[in-house]
Formats: sequence, C-alpha cells, structure tokens
Amino acid sequence: MAQVKGIRLDRQRGFGIFPLFENRYHVLSEIKLEKPKFRKVTPEIVDGLRRIVGDQHVLMEKHDIEPYSHDETEDFVFYPEVVVRPIATPDVSEILRLCHENYIPVTSRGGGTGLSGGALPVHGGVILSTERMNRIIEIDRENLMATVQPGVITHNFHQAVEAEGLFYPVDPASKESCTIGGNVAECAGGPRALKYGVTRDYVYGLTCVLPDGRIFKTGGKLLKNVTGYNLTHLIVGSEGTLCVVTEIILKLLPLPQHKRTMLAPFDSLTDAARALTEIFNAKIIPRAAEFIEQKAIKAAEEKLEKPFPHSDRAALLLFEIDGDRADILDEQAEKIGEICVEHGAVDVFVADNPDKQAELWQMRRNIGEAVKSIAIYKEEDTVVPRSRLPELVEKIASISKKHGILTISYGHAGDGNIHVNIIKKNISDDDWNIKVPLVIEELFREVVILGGSISGEHGIGWVQKKYLPLALSPVEIELMRMIKKVFDPRGILNPGKLLPDE
Ligand code: LAC
Ligand code: ZN
Repeated sequence: MAQVKGIRLDRQRGFGIFPLFENRYHVLSEIKLEKPKFRKVTPEIVDGLRRIVGDQHVLMEKHDIEPYSHDETEDFVFYPEVVVRPIATPDVSEILRLCHENYIPVTSRGGGTGLSGGALPVHGGVILSTERMNRIIEIDRENLMATVQPGVITHNFHQAVEAEGLFYPVDPASKESCTIGGNVAECAGGPRALKYGVTRDYVYGLTCVLPDGRIFKTGGKLLKNVTGYNLTHLIVGSEGTLCVVTEIILKLLPLPQHKRTMLAPFDSLTDAARALTEIFNAKIIPRAAEFIEQKAIKAAEEKLEKPFPHSDRAALLLFEIDGDRADILDEQAEKIGEICVEHGAVDVFVADNPDKQAELWQMRRNIGEAVKSIAIYKEEDTVVPRSRLPELVEKIASISKKHGILTISYGHAGDGNIHVNIIKKNISDDDWNIKVPLVIEELFREVVILGGSISGEHGIGWVQKKYLPLALSPVEIELMRMIKKVFDPRGILNPGKLLPDE
C-alpha cells in the first residue's frame, strides 16, 4: 500500500503505538550521515595537538585521563585516546580542523556532571575539555548582559553577578561543579526554571566553531532579533553534536531583594501534587516548587547523616518565592500555606533565616547523589504539563507496583519535571534486565499520553537515544538528522549521541 509513512505515524503520535527499536527514519529523503569511518589518534596528531595547546595540556596517561572517562551517568566508563585543554577560540578551531581532516571523534566536556552521558567519549578519540576557558569576559551593567567562556562554573558566575546586584537564575542541582558551557549544551534547568526559564531563555549570542574549524557568531546583546533562523536556540541543547561553543552572551536580571523558603509535608503524594497545581490556579508563581517523596528524603538523610525536617511524611513540597516587596511575599506565603493545608498538608513551615534556607537547599541538591548511592539505578527525566502532575505521580506508583520494582521520585514539580529513579533493590540480575526496559517504556508511553516528553533538562545523550521515537515523530527525527549533517557532515562531533542509531 502506498502511504506516506511519516505522516501516518506522525498522526499517531501520543497514542503510545510506536515500536521502539524499529528502524524507519528514511521517510522523507535519502539524506544520510556519512557512516562514521573514524580513525585512531596517531603520534603525528598528538604532536599537532601539542603544538596548538602546549605539551602540558595534552593528556594521554591513564591516570590523567581517567577523570574524563565518565560523567555522572550511571556507571558508564569510556576512555578517550587523548584529552586536550584549549584556552581560547583559535585553539579550538585548530584542534577541530586537525581532527576533522583526520576523522577523529571529538567530544567536548564541561564539568562532567551530565546525567544522560553527553560527555562520554563513546567512540574514543579526543575529549576537548573547556576547563581552562573559564573567564567571565564582561558583565555589562547597561545592557544587563554578560559574556563568558564556556568553562565558567555556574556557581562562580552566580556569585560574580550577584556581587553587582544582578541575577542569573538558572541553577542546576550541580551548580557548584557544572559549567555554563555544559548548561548550554544540555539546556540545563533546575528549580528556578519554574519562574525564570531554562538556559535557552538567557542565551542571546554565541561564538561557535564548526567541526571543520570555521568560527561563527550568532545573535548578540540584542533583546530583539529576528534576523533569519535562530541558530542560537538551535545550538543551545544540541548536546555538543553540532559545533563547539567558545563564548556565550547571557541575559541578566536585577537581583530580587527578598525571598521566602517554605516546606509543606503531606501524607499523600497525590494530595501534594494537587496542592501544587492549585497554587498556580491562585496566580502565584513561586521561583521554585520542588516535590520530594519520602524515599528520596530518607536517602538524603542517610547520605548527609543529618535529619531532614518532617522526613516521616509521604511527600514534601519545598517552595521558594521571591520579589522586591516583603509585604507581598508575606501575603503570597500565607496564601500558599492556606492552599497546602486545604489540600491535606500536615502543616506549613517557613525557613526564616538564610542558614535554614541554605540547609534545606543543600539537602535538596544532594538528593540526586543520595538516591544514586542506594544501589544500581536508572534515572528518567520525565516532564509533563504541570496540570497532569497528579496523574503522573499515580502512574509512576502503579507501574512500580505492577512490575514489583522500586522507584524513587523527586524533582521540579512546579514545571512538571519529575526525576524518576528506578532502583535495583531486592531483585535478581535477570529480573532487573528484563523489567527495566519494560518499566521505562511503559513510563515514557504514559508520559507522552499525558502530553509530556522523555527529558525535561538532562538531555537525550547516550542513554535515552533509543527512546527518542517514543517522543518525537519520524519527521522530526529526520529533520534533526539533516541538521546534524549540515553542521557536521563527517559526524565527528560527539558521535553516538542524541539521535537513535540508524
Ligand atoms: C536534580 C538533578 C538530578 O534536580 O536534576 O537534583
Ligand atoms: Zn533536576
């Protein structure tokens, strides 16, 4: 039967009928990436890299390159052949040109805190580490923009702009070790994305290097700019597969003068999720509204060897509101408290001093690490429209029960982004191997039916690429393949990531 497969399948998107591993991406065109024909790094190439960055910035000894062989994704380890540490855009250009000429894979790397394997050199080759490119080039107070190199640690950037009374809201849990460049690659979010948006919303211009060494700039310090396709937004979140970003222009805001941090314990997960959606109904947008289920709180208590307040309850909501008028914040805090109590909160507590606030956030930021330290795990980064959150929470519980497998959920509930961790506890290796793919597939199908998607902020990278057809239509995947080919015809940049294998 003659049928335009792409269109047929596209219509069915959202009804959970995609076969997972079937290869059917040659729908609209014959465009294909050149099949990777990567070569090994030769002594001549190493000499070339040394000439570009200096001997001490080309690492090859096993103990030197070990830290670059993994990120924070499960227990994956892939050794690069060489690690190279450039200091500026021209170095990056020369490194890429050399690798491009010789078909050497290049994986760029920021802080190595990624959770989808974006920085893993799965085909070996070169790791291009941005750690020395860590200069804040400018904080422009008139335009409220900053220009930075990609290796700036996100927390250091926060401190630098806050010292000027300015604010860069994007705050991934790993902010003390992740970099702005890594945040750009993954389009990182974090708790404050709820009110302020994700990395993409702050990136206004980029300096980039194509795999063949050509340097180009996008955007600028321009709040309005509709000059052609928005390459800036395309590159943000492209997981290092299109080009290497060497400078970033970021929008800044005035630093809010006041904030309030609140904790609401609940005896039911669904009640907590319902309370949350009601707060938005009341037209309050907290800057953070985090959801933590009890098993996650317990894990954090164990890791930090410190009690978390109200850890005996089924779930906690952690709120933060901010603004310039303390009286308005107090009204909002009271309203949030009322709504939570109406929806079953046991009580509502305000952390009224900076130490207490910092302590709550320290515990929250440690949950990811704590949950991962329980046992072998798989982490899924689900995202649904916020109003569907109660249904998502119920689905997670029923999938977990049906398959007899432990899940622990927490995350940025205010923006519908829940991290679901599947934990290998009390089940055999065989059961784990059989059940995990079933659980993930069922979870993702439910998420898509709820109008959601399979990653909110961690990216697709290495570990989620085979699930991409559950969330995207063949047409979208085809367009993405074509975009990849335009930027990187030899496929040397971060190969094996983001797009499903052909
Ligand atoms: C967090 C990371 C895992 O929210 O995204 O803790
Ligand atoms: Zn998160």
